[in-house]
Amino acid sequence: MRLQTSLIPSLQKATHELDASGRTTTGTVTPKASVATPNADTAGTLSREPAAEDFLQRAKGFLKAEVYLTHLDGQTVVCKDYRRYAGTPAALIARWLVRRELKMLSRLAGWTHAPRAIARVSPLALAMEYIPGPLLSDAQLDPAAHPGLCQQLILVVQQLHQRRMAHNDIRGSNVILRDGIPVLIDFTSAVRLPRLPGTAGVMRMMRRFDLRHSLKLKQRTLGLPLRPREARLLMRSGRLNQVLRLWKKRILPRLKGR
Ligand SMILES: Nc1ncnc2c1ncn2[C@@H]1O[C@H](COP(=O)(O)OP(=O)(O)OP(=O)(O)O)[C@@H](O)[C@H]1O
Ligand SMILES: [Mg+2]
Repeated sequence: MRLQTSLIPSLQKATHELDASGRTTTGTVTPKASVATPNADTAGTLSREPAAEDFLQRAKGFLKAEVYLTHLDGQTVVCKDYRRYAGTPAALIARWLVRRELKMLSRLAGWTHAPRAIARVSPLALAMEYIPGPLLSDAQLDPAAHPGLCQQLILVVQQLHQRRMAHNDIRGSNVILRDGIPVLIDFTSAVRLPRLPGTAGVMRMMRRFDLRHSLKLKQRTLGLPLRPREARLLMRSGRLNQVLRLWKKRILPRLKGR
């Protein structure tokens, strides 16, 4: 299967990082086991399908990506691949999701709590930095051994908000613990609001939505008690929060076959 590889203009920053490390700005995407051949042109070839052990996620459900490890110019990257929708009406949405996630990740370039955007390897697939470590949902956590983890997660979410961005899908399977430090992944639902009149209220609601889900992780995944102020935040439910909850709990799971 052939896969065109190109670094999109909005990824100039990521491109420069690759330049700085002495790699070419474009290259060949190859599965983990095969040898990557750097290519000066703006196209590359995926020589074969990823092996079973390369998969981090198999696509099950509508608009679900295959997520696997592969090589780009010699570095291990994660490929989020919607190419199974090629030629179907869903491809339009999948293209948009790929662009969107890359755009969000490239805006976060240099931030240690999100993977680095690397390339749009096809209109329906993107490559990003591989974050090693367990998912927060899978980690066998003894809260006593990770006393600051929850506060760290909240701090990370707040840092995102300071950039006028909201994640909108905070859950244990979208947080990886790299050396015990939370890294957010899966920015398909993320939003960045411009500084325009009338957006402050929406931003506030989205912030609360992310914080509420971080607190749920604290309570349910980490088994930690909430402070009274945190419990109050969890109780509060504005109208936009209800819409966001509808998106996260009803629409998104159906789209993704969860
Ligand atoms: N950058 C990354 N580094 C390491 N693992 C990753 C990375 N991105 C994704 N994964 C793995 O792939 C899984 C699926 O990725 P992601 O959440 O982005 O896809 P998704 O289709 O939106 O999944 P879901 O609908 O379950 O949230 C993650 O739970 C994680 O195990
Ligand atoms: Mg996810």
